[in-house]
Amino acid sequence: MARRRPTIRRIGILTGGGDCPGLNAVIRAAAKTAINNYDAEVIGIRDAFRGFVEGDAVRLSYRDLSGILTLGGTILGTSNTHNPFHYPIVRRGKQEFRDMSRALLANARKWRLDAVVFIGGDGTMNIGNKLSQLGLPVVGVPKTIDNDLAETDVTFGFDTAVACVTDAVDRIHSTAMSHHRVMIIETMGRYAGWIALYAGVAGGGDVILIPEIPYGLHKVIEPLIARSRTGKRFSIIVVAEGARPQRGSLVVERVVKESHDPIRLGGVSAKLAHDIEEASGLETRYIILGHLQRGGTPTAYDRILATQFGYHAMELAAAGRFGRMVCLKGGQITSVPVARAVAKLKLVPRNHPLIKVARSLGTSFGD
Ligand code: F6P
Repeated sequence: MARRRPTIRRIGILTGGGDCPGLNAVIRAAAKTAINNYDAEVIGIRDAFRGFVEGDAVRLSYRDLSGILTLGGTILGTSNTHNPFHYPIVRRGKQEFRDMSRALLANARKWRLDAVVFIGGDGTMNIGNKLSQLGLPVVGVPKTIDNDLAETDVTFGFDTAVACVTDAVDRIHSTAMSHHRVMIIETMGRYAGWIALYAGVAGGGDVILIPEIPYGLHKVIEPLIARSRTGKRFSIIVVAEGARPQRGSLVVERVVKESHDPIRLGGVSAKLAHDIEEASGLETRYIILGHLQRGGTPTAYDRILATQFGYHAMELAAAGRFGRMVCLKGGQITSVPVARAVAKLKLVPRNHPLIKVARSLGTSFGD
């Protein structure tokens, strides 16, 4: 293979925020491109900004990149609680927060990094944007199972999460039918309903509840009763963790104060199951899928998208086009300024074509 003129000699890679299937595929593609096309050295930064601030990194050889394409998680480790601008430090037994961005920039100089690839969601991209303004040569790669990052049609990890939830919905069907119960499956997704919408449609959910369409309890119960009147004595509800009643609030599971977004959602299905039983007498059970949705082997789609993102991130770096994030638009891999990607979340539009299709098939959105 003909070698191109080396424009980057040393690159750093980190994975930030919650893990998701496909991270290793990005690391592999970016690092192999750096080594094969640019003869560059690759430094893997451990546990995202913790490793960057504390100087914890390892050189990745070609051998380290073998056998990782199919692995879930990230070989580099990750963290969503080590923001360099608000860095948690324990002093005299008490937790404090400090701006450690200078320590991070000093490590970038010490490691002689010509570029750093940030693979992450909105929290990581926000930090990447600030560091880019301080002069760090950053290239972003969007990841999240939530699919809520603006400026890309889709993030890798989403397809795998949808496959996981769809499998769960399929499995829940038989037990719901046998026991004549209402079964509620709660998905992740934070403030966006992408996972619940896609898996709900793929699994044939009778009711799909997403944050973008607040639900009315009686509107959720109506189709369940209607189904039982026609002899269908079970129903499946797919609810996103960020769904909420029309006159109610989000169900918060915990607050992680070191995190970019401290709120952790979870538990809306338990509340809903209780409310449905109380109001209708229909026996109702729930299951919260939680972090299962983030694990396992990435689907072929996610591997391909992640591989393309990794390659294009390195090409951006080699071209010196810093402060940009690779993305997918209309089937093409391209890039946008990181600042634009973090300006807002990508929520499900209420008139999304898939919602229209599902409604036509009799699916209720609880409105
Ligand atoms: O953003 C990915 C995600 O899995 C969300 O869907 C979920 O709300 C959150 O992360 C959970 O975060 P943690 O791993 O900190 O519990």
